[in-house]
Amino acid sequence: MDKKKLNHLALIVDGNGRWAKEKGKKRSFGHKAGFDRLEEIILYAKEKKIEFLSLYVFSTENFKRSTEEVCYLMDLFVHNFKRLIKKYEKENIKVIFSGRKEPLEDRVWNAMEEIKEKTKNNTGMVVNFCLNYGSHAEIVDATKKICQKVIHHEISIEDIKEDYFEQNLYQNLPPVDLLIRTSGECRLSNFLLWQLAYAEFYFPKTYFPDFTKTEFDKAIDYYYTRDRRFGGITYEDKNY
Ligand code: FPP
Repeated sequence: MDKKKLNHLALIVDGNGRWAKEKGKKRSFGHKAGFDRLEEIILYAKEKKIEFLSLYVFSTENFKRSTEEVCYLMDLFVHNFKRLIKKYEKENIKVIFSGRKEPLEDRVWNAMEEIKEKTKNNTGMVVNFCLNYGSHAEIVDATKKICQKVIHHEISIEDIKEDYFEQNLYQNLPPVDLLIRTSGECRLSNFLLWQLAYAEFYFPKTYFPDFTKTEFDKAIDYYYTRDRRFGGITYEDKNY
């Protein structure tokens, strides 16, 4: 595989609330605008031949928000996952999820299962919605799964190598090449900590509802300026 190819892009969809506030509107208005933008960006990523797109749309910590906001987001998920099934069947996009089931309501879990099931044979871009996701939880859950296998003598301690650990994460995806977090915040907020080990980071100030295709292109251009060394060196260093 070409080391430089942008194969897996991860996106922290951030700034919907601040975008709405600056317009004197409710946070829900920002989430709706964020979703509309996301729908456009997903298709644009496909057009740009990205193979894996991981999207942080709801963290385990987001349950701390007001009931009104959490309910609004859950409604948005249910309504849109149902609506996107036909579109993604046509676009050949496969939808998968990363995250814990509890405490999601059944109606949300069922909508997730339905779009996952109906798009599972699609062979185009994979969209990994990280919903009720937290990276610490993912690492703990993978560790528990592996411990169970050791206890039941399905594997030995020596079998636990990095590849094997990865296979026990929520999804076994290639490493992230580029992480984008919109809104100017420069932190990871418990997102894909394992998978981001060698990713390039891009933190535009733009709030997500304003993250247009042009902004997306700038992120990709930035990625292709990076010299990715993965711990090695790519130039001839005459000092050694
Ligand atoms: C974080 O920033 C964003 C979220 C918690 C929600 C993002 C979700 C969507 C855009 C909807 C996605 C919908 C589907 C169907 C996948 P924030 O909006 O809380 O912004 P703030 O930091 O400015 O308050």
